[in-house]
Amino acid sequence: MTLLSADTVVCDAERAVSDGAVVVEDDRIAAVGDREELLDAYPDHEQVTCDVLAPGLVGAHIHSVQSLGRGIADDEELLDWLFDHVLPMEADMDAAEMRAAADLGYLELVESGTTTAIDHLSVAHADQAFEAAGDAGVRALMGKVLMDKDSPDGLQEDTDAALAETERLIQRYDGARGGRIRYAVTPRFAVSCTEACLRGCRELADEYGVRVHTHASENRGEIEAVEADTGYRNVHWLDEVGLTGEDVVLAHCVWTDETEREVLAETGTHVTHCPSSNMKLASGVAPIRDYLDRGVNVALGNDGPPCNNTLDAFTEMRQASLLGKVEELDPTALPARTVFEMATRNGATAAGFDDVGELREGWRADVVGLSTDNARSTPIHDPYSHLAFAAHGDDVTLTMVDGEVLYRDGEHVRMDAESVRERAREFAARL
Ligand code: GUN
Ligand code: FE
Repeated sequence: MTLLSADTVVCDAERAVSDGAVVVEDDRIAAVGDREELLDAYPDHEQVTCDVLAPGLVGAHIHSVQSLGRGIADDEELLDWLFDHVLPMEADMDAAEMRAAADLGYLELVESGTTTAIDHLSVAHADQAFEAAGDAGVRALMGKVLMDKDSPDGLQEDTDAALAETERLIQRYDGARGGRIRYAVTPRFAVSCTEACLRGCRELADEYGVRVHTHASENRGEIEAVEADTGYRNVHWLDEVGLTGEDVVLAHCVWTDETEREVLAETGTHVTHCPSSNMKLASGVAPIRDYLDRGVNVALGNDGPPCNNTLDAFTEMRQASLLGKVEELDPTALPARTVFEMATRNGATAAGFDDVGELREGWRADVVGLSTDNARSTPIHDPYSHLAFAAHGDDVTLTMVDGEVLYRDGEHVRMDAESVRERAREFAARL
């Protein structure tokens, strides 16, 4: 039983309370409101004070297992970056390296205020990342990557084997760790997957009631390859094989035409915008204002450490807003509150966690606390402006998932940060 209090409690994109508090009982939020009133009502709760409290951030597209490749290919476009650098790295990684990479990814997420992630793993050793996420205590929707076409040695799999391994992992991990871990079927992207594989992904998602998460229309070379192969534009192809809908989350969607955007909106497909990755890989600018105007649910993601190079979700809010303003030549295109909502509630909606992403009575107690004890955080005229444009993951002083403190005042509760970093450095040197 904890009473968290702060100068500002940002509950959701509409409501922020000055001198507020959040009462946490077990894994839920029991009350949100005025600090003095809640102190009177819950005098025996342990008190924790922060400067700002907000919902834990949702990283709706990351690759924890790419963490050892931070900085390996900073100046490449997607397909060279992927086929010449990132896929060879993934193909070469053994189980211990996969675990070390995932641990590093989750360490970074926890200490920078991300409480929920949608994590696209690799082909092999997915168990390592499921255990890493589970041990880290984060909420995650994650899956083993399927690649059964035109893929490098070490990653290319037989279609049936890829689907069978996916089914084994669904049975083992969907709903694990008290429900914090959920499974998503994660074909890599249409370039690397046969039609049979993509249709098989839909069948598994239907059979087990799990989500599908893949990359789509990130880069022009990618959509040209898909069209040459299938005769369809990428989103139409995914729609054709059953991979659109309310249980599908597509990362990127930079290069979509009018008809594809209609499909996204009509089918209720979720989009994860990854602005830093899209800029760094020179992929292009996703039409986010247009998606939102059509009613598409758009979340935010950092993508992998080799194309960002951080998992700090605060950075992504900033990049999303600035890029949207430039794209539309309109300073109101993606304001602070909008990107805040994308980084919290919209991400939870995409991931299928219905009571996550806002500080609301009865909802899950996934909370971050920030310090404002630095020049960059002074003054704060508007808490949304602060969170979107000035705050950094470094400011985080409290990370809580399901009412459990995972990080507080620079200390990880579950993870040994020094040994995670040490192992990551050791393994990265070999790769
Ligand atoms: N498309 C297919 N795989 C990947 C990946 O690992 N990262 C990014 N950014 N795009 C991809
Ligand atoms: Fe990605």
